[in-house]
Amino acid sequence: MSSAVETAFEQQFGRPPVFVSKAPGRIEFIGNHTDYNGGEVLGAAVDRFLRVAVAPREDSKVQFASEGNPEVVAFADAQSALDRASGWVKYPLGVLALLAREGIQPQDGFDFFVTSEIPAGAGLSSSAAFELASSIAFEALAGKELDRLERVRLCRRAENEVVGVPCGILDQGVSGFGEAGRLVHIDCSSETIETVEGPEHTRLWIFESGKKHNLVDSMYAERNRECCEAFDLLKKRYQRIQFLVDVTPEELMAAQGDLPEKVFLRARHIIEEHLRVQESVRLLAKGDLKGVGELLCASHWSSSRYFENSIEELDTLVELLSASNGVYGARLTGGGFGGAVMALCTESFSDEDAKAVADQYAAKYDHDPRFRGMAIAEGAGRVL
Ligand code: GLA
Repeated sequence: MSSAVETAFEQQFGRPPVFVSKAPGRIEFIGNHTDYNGGEVLGAAVDRFLRVAVAPREDSKVQFASEGNPEVVAFADAQSALDRASGWVKYPLGVLALLAREGIQPQDGFDFFVTSEIPAGAGLSSSAAFELASSIAFEALAGKELDRLERVRLCRRAENEVVGVPCGILDQGVSGFGEAGRLVHIDCSSETIETVEGPEHTRLWIFESGKKHNLVDSMYAERNRECCEAFDLLKKRYQRIQFLVDVTPEELMAAQGDLPEKVFLRARHIIEEHLRVQESVRLLAKGDLKGVGELLCASHWSSSRYFENSIEELDTLVELLSASNGVYGARLTGGGFGGAVMALCTESFSDEDAKAVADQYAAKYDHDPRFRGMAIAEGAGRVL
């Protein structure tokens, strides 16, 4: 049976695709802004996928189409596509450019179609999924295959260069290495990626605040700079450190006077958050979901108070969820400054329960937050 992306490809281009790939959205389970500080992070690939279908052409033409955009974006050849990329095709073209630098190139032109179940702007990192699914499709066209970690690294570089945000490896790592029912555990100091047993008999829920700071990219970059400043100042006192997370909480307290107040608070969040990730891994192995839930909430309030990347609406969602039955814990997920909250819930937490939270939020902010419950799913791969 052909999938929706295959049918859409065929309708658009008049022939079936030759290769199809897919990549899931991701939820940052715990580990907020730890990734680019050499810390640990836990994430979940979720059962919402972006799919890419491609077929080689006999001429050099390169054509992109998507279910959301009726217009085909066409270029005479790959080079002119790379030179003139703008809008949504920047994501696959960023990947194509980096693959070309590795000598991995489709021989001729190609047709490309993308469909997505990952809502953009819902904190599920649709862009990482787009990069990974594109890479897998282009590798297939080129007759080469990267290993998973190389692909994840390449897609992260594409994100850094295309979007220009100095993000870490979390999004691409989780979408690339996801496994059904398991969490992806990344040690970002060595870029070691493994999976651990996920929380059993639970469901992850996302609640969108509907708010996004319009300076979100520059605020993310500012936090990154503040973390670098903390590292540079702490390195003077503790020369052994390679990453900010190598400083212990006690060492940080002893060095408080060396750091401007805000920089101290950012460092406090990162150092403690890294330890919360490690503790979460231990508690998950023991099946202590109550303990994990407490760590999720602690993570949120640390983001809010020390890292200052929350907003009032996200705090409200966490408060409402924390007071609901069937919720182990809740926290902002992803970069912050607006966006979404994720909650770890019992299996019996229902749409009605979620609606009750949403109604209370709507009563306060005159905005109905979108919400969805998701299962932990497998990572990116070839479908055809
Ligand atoms: C965004 C970035 C990630 C990570 C998170 C915060 O999702 O893309 O690399 O830094 O924010 O943890």
